[in-house]
Amino acid sequence: MVKVITYGTYDLLHYGHIRLLQRAKALGDYLIVGITSDDYDKTRGKINNQQSLMERIAAVEATGLADKIIVEEYEGQKIDDIRRYDVDIFTVGSDWVGKFDYLNEYCKVIYLPRTQGVSSSELRAEKRKLNIGTIGEGRLCRKFVREVDYVNGVEYKACDETLEDVDAVYIATHPERHYEDVKRALEAGKHVICESPIALSQTRCRELMDLAHERGLVLSDAIKTAYSTAYSRLLVVAKSGRIGEIVSVDAVCTSLQDGAGEESANLSSKQNSICAWGPTAMLPVFQLLGTHYRQKSICTRMLNRDLRFDGFTKIDFVYDNAVASVKVAKAAKAEGELIITGTKGYIYVPAPWWKTDYFEVRFENPAENKRHFYQLDGEGIRYEIVAFAKAVESGRRDYYIGEEISRAITEVIESFNRGEYIEI
Ligand code: CTP
Repeated sequence: MVKVITYGTYDLLHYGHIRLLQRAKALGDYLIVGITSDDYDKTRGKINNQQSLMERIAAVEATGLADKIIVEEYEGQKIDDIRRYDVDIFTVGSDWVGKFDYLNEYCKVIYLPRTQGVSSSELRAEKRKLNIGTIGEGRLCRKFVREVDYVNGVEYKACDETLEDVDAVYIATHPERHYEDVKRALEAGKHVICESPIALSQTRCRELMDLAHERGLVLSDAIKTAYSTAYSRLLVVAKSGRIGEIVSVDAVCTSLQDGAGEESANLSSKQNSICAWGPTAMLPVFQLLGTHYRQKSICTRMLNRDLRFDGFTKIDFVYDNAVASVKVAKAAKAEGELIITGTKGYIYVPAPWWKTDYFEVRFENPAENKRHFYQLDGEGIRYEIVAFAKAVESGRRDYYIGEEISRAITEVIESFNRGEYIEI
């Protein structure tokens, strides 16, 4: 029996895929199709598959051409598969000519001519072209626009006050302006992704969320960390019970750049520490322990009292069975790490944890420690854009950051703005 193997993503299964599979099948008696997992695709730079792995598998299955379907999860798996399944022929489309010659050592390699005029990328681009504009100036907007380029089907378009030419906007203005800017965009019928916090009071946050629901629009917090693979995986590991019960979450985010410490005239245009870093630092606390804490206390060191510009703030949360602490600063420096303490072990994410590609699960016995590495491109921003575009397309809210989490973040910042802190 001649065994043939082929690999691909098979997103939005099209005629080119089917022709490839038919010809692959005809090369032998038994066809194995390797379908790339979403994680593996991310490491290969394919970040915006429209369909989930399960959907892509189901589509290939439905062709009836594959005798066996496997999932491709890591670099180097092809050699393992060829050996494991005793494969005679490896084949892929001619877009890969030369790339897999190294497999000749293990089996015969055949490149089949690619079908002209159709590809998943084109189908994705046709399917949803989302024009996105930005409101705000500065570093964050520039970064965002750069990252939009990596996401096919989404295009940056400069927009004016009317927001006429765009379907969606990214907002990175001063937090005090967020409420007005988000409201204006939603009222104009635009989907919104806004730097967190989306408003400075719970009432306003709720009002914006209600407005988005009413209009059938997506309103999403832009916290890029939520979309990084390492961060999402560490949440899963923490919740899986691997480190036992979680008893403490401690997150530190500091940055000394950005002009804090300068004259107060300059400070008024800048974000204070709690707005700039608070949402990111509170994210793992609320995502792991929930938003129903029993008590919180805020200690702060003001850089400018009139502007309520904190140079350093520490927030402590007490839950029924756990505690959490968050340290944020623009005028103080500390190790920017995240530690999740459990009853059996802990998770350690080295600085800067908010854009990490790596974390460790550590135990009393170091022999049991496990290191996890994941690819991180564009600090997570491009994945954030993919998730936002998907939410817009499906009409469902971005499920990475729940509404209750946005509200809990706003509530803490509102309480700070009401002066509910101890000054040090
Ligand atoms: N393929 C083909 N003809 C096409 C498109 C794809 O023969 N028009 C082949 C590829 O060479 C590969 C397999 O189908 O062997 C799976 O390809 P995949 O990368 O999933 O599809 P593409 O349409 O090329 O996807 P993308 O546009 O995202 O690169």
